[in-house]
Amino acid sequence: MGKPIIYITRQIPTQLLEPYKAHFQFEMWEKEDTPVPEAILYEEVKRADGMMCLLTEKIDKAFLEHASHLKVIANMAVGYDNIDVKTANAKEITITNTPDVLTETTADLTFTLLLTTARRIIEASHYIYEDKWDVWSPFMLAGSDVHAKKIGIIGMGRIGEAVGRRAKGFGMEILYHNRSRNERIENELGATYGSFEDVIKEADFVVSLLPLTAGTEDTFNEATFAQMKPSAIFINASRGGVVDEQALYEALKNQVIRAAGLDVFKKEPIDSTHPLATLPNAVLLPHIGSASVQTRERMIQLCLDNISRVLHAEAPLTPVK
Ligand code: DGY
Repeated sequence: MGKPIIYITRQIPTQLLEPYKAHFQFEMWEKEDTPVPEAILYEEVKRADGMMCLLTEKIDKAFLEHASHLKVIANMAVGYDNIDVKTANAKEITITNTPDVLTETTADLTFTLLLTTARRIIEASHYIYEDKWDVWSPFMLAGSDVHAKKIGIIGMGRIGEAVGRRAKGFGMEILYHNRSRNERIENELGATYGSFEDVIKEADFVVSLLPLTAGTEDTFNEATFAQMKPSAIFINASRGGVVDEQALYEALKNQVIRAAGLDVFKKEPIDSTHPLATLPNAVLLPHIGSASVQTRERMIQLCLDNISRVLHAEAPLTPVK
């Protein structure tokens, strides 16, 4: 009998596969920057025992019915809103994600986005390249302070906690809302728990770290933005689906809130014709929260470890249910 086959839906560095090659045969989509076409994925997966995929793959009921012989699907992301986990569970296909290994890197990016948006760093940099800097003046490119301001973290999971630690280091007051209270983090950071409404009303920086589920879709909408301070800055480093983007566009354009920093969008990728990209008070990034070389390698290793364990009839390290 041949070795079990693992299909990988994007080209990844082959040296990362070396430690597993004695036990598995790898098949991989040949491109790094283009998702595997659906027809090819459906064909390739017919022979596979395990699969590593990205958030660009829609692992829906139709796919899971087609690939019901798969034993494990490892998603190279902590979020797994691209996967119909319920159907996968019913078909006894194990689903895994990549928590922990990306926490600090994603928190670094979230805080970078907060600082960049508050201090208008992108606009300021363009000022030079567009030859606009004629003279120094008192309020030229003046932004908002970060120190001593209130951060409102919506979604106090692992990444929320790591953002909270950075906020504490910057001397911010920390408010948070989460499905359940986290007394450990309240003690560690001096964070204050509040209702969703209280936190978004009080915070100078509202930071979304909510996972995308049926219950969180469009959490940030016209009514929500209207409750924030006119000086509020909204940061989203979780999933675009938690924001009503038309409502955010209107809120930024009509100065209902001051600015937004976004790493994620409802339908990715976006380009310069996206309405939010036309606004001077929006800082937009192409979903790079966990994008450091070290973290991306750790995410791939965790996926491969999870697949390897399941195919060796061991418990996966980071299953999702
Ligand atoms: C995730 O892990 O869910 C990110 O969005 C990609 O790293």
